[in-house]
Amino acid sequence: MSLEINAILASGAVGSEIEVKGWVRTFRNNQFISLNDGSTIHNLQIVVDFNQTEEALLKRITTGAALHVKGELKASQGSGQKVELSAKEIIVLGDSDPEKYPMQPKKHSLEFLRENAHMRFRTQLFSAVFRVRHHLAMAIHKYFDEKGFFYLHAPIVTASDAEGAGEMFQVTNLNLENLPKTEQGQVDYNQDFFAKKASLSVSGQLQAELAAMGLGKVYTFGPTFRAENSNTARHLAEFWMIEPEVAFMDIHGDMDLAEGLLKYCIQYALDHCADDLQFLHERLDTEEKQKPQQERSPMPLIDKLKFCVENEYQRLTYTDAIEILLNCAPNKKGKFQFPITGFGVDLQSEHERYLVEKHFQKPVILINYPKEIKAFYMRVNEDNKTVAAMDILFPGIGEMVGGSQREERLDVLMKKMEEFHIPLHEMEWYLDTRRFGTNPHAGFGLGFERLVMFVTGMNNIRDVIPFARTPRNCEF
Ligand code: 4AD
Ligand code: MG
Repeated sequence: MSLEINAILASGAVGSEIEVKGWVRTFRNNQFISLNDGSTIHNLQIVVDFNQTEEALLKRITTGAALHVKGELKASQGSGQKVELSAKEIIVLGDSDPEKYPMQPKKHSLEFLRENAHMRFRTQLFSAVFRVRHHLAMAIHKYFDEKGFFYLHAPIVTASDAEGAGEMFQVTNLNLENLPKTEQGQVDYNQDFFAKKASLSVSGQLQAELAAMGLGKVYTFGPTFRAENSNTARHLAEFWMIEPEVAFMDIHGDMDLAEGLLKYCIQYALDHCADDLQFLHERLDTEEKQKPQQERSPMPLIDKLKFCVENEYQRLTYTDAIEILLNCAPNKKGKFQFPITGFGVDLQSEHERYLVEKHFQKPVILINYPKEIKAFYMRVNEDNKTVAAMDILFPGIGEMVGGSQREERLDVLMKKMEEFHIPLHEMEWYLDTRRFGTNPHAGFGLGFERLVMFVTGMNNIRDVIPFARTPRNCEF
């Protein structure tokens, strides 16, 4: 039976006869194979006795080839590893033409790897990123499970635009070349699959609210889709979101829940991904050293992660944040692309990053935004100007979490929906939550890829999801 490399390295059982399967990372001097099987960032060194090995076989041991190796585990003479496998038999399971193999044992640019996303799992960097991504997903489920939440599968196809932002991908099986029309000349959705206009969900929140009204505490964790044409390093058209929703909870409980989740996930990664994070830490350090001093991140990766576990996040109101931004040097010197003029303006990522990276130098939770710039379902505060919204802003990322206490008063909610031009008759099911046993409740959305970006130190969101969907790009 073959063993996985992480188990072999952990056991260090010198003298045992073992078998292993993996892919060749490098083959040096016809003698040393670095073999990796994805179970760990570390390779197993295989020592080949080239006097005893047929030349035809040696030629087939090329970068990318899949091998099955049998041999004896020995203490290593060389530096860099404690044990190595002295090969007695090597079987090539799958050859790899070294001339054509795209993942050469040299440093490739991230752009090149993105274009070859089907192959990038085989690099040290991307296998590390995706192992960390896995552990973060486990951490999310553990956190909520330990707190007594129920995992809810929100639908992916929906007829409601939860965020009211109208950035949805339509789902239809109508023939787009020949659309059925009504007498008025409009598309006849009655003939569409669902007999109405349907789309991919931008958020599972509204359905989570329904479930929270019976289950108390729920969370969703699934793919969400937004057809926003923002070609940035922080936006995807398909991304994964975690959305808890809790009955009888206010905005303060919501902030505690979110801060607790982020800290738990980061600590979980530190505990479960030490080797991968060490590699990512060193990689980022090298990258940072190539930048001009003033653009460098003030903290190396692992220090930054620990900092975000150990320190309280700064909580302040939108109004106080505007005060800080109005009077800050970049605003006064006209350095912001979008100058801050006063209460009411939407914060851009340059402002969020100033608050987090320059002013407070730690994660920030902003609450009580002007009601006009936030979604219809957020609870109107006593001042009638702001809503009980909260955004968590992270260094290098900007908005990590967006959430709120929900408007539980039926009359206020209906009035808000009218102001936001949301057709009430299509949302009767949602309004029922406010008609029967309504209560103060709250929730938030955490962008999973943004969390993975922060923890891995990757700068582009396309590099933390296996296959990125962005405007004009749907490869693989
Ligand atoms: O702030 P958003 O739009 O909030 C909602 O969707 C609410 N329904 C959440 C809730 O209260 N249940 O999105 C939440 C988070 C953002 O803070 C961001 O981290 C992430 O989702 N996000 C994106 N991530 C990647 N690509 C995009 N296009 C994203 N849009 C939002
Ligand atoms: Mg938001």
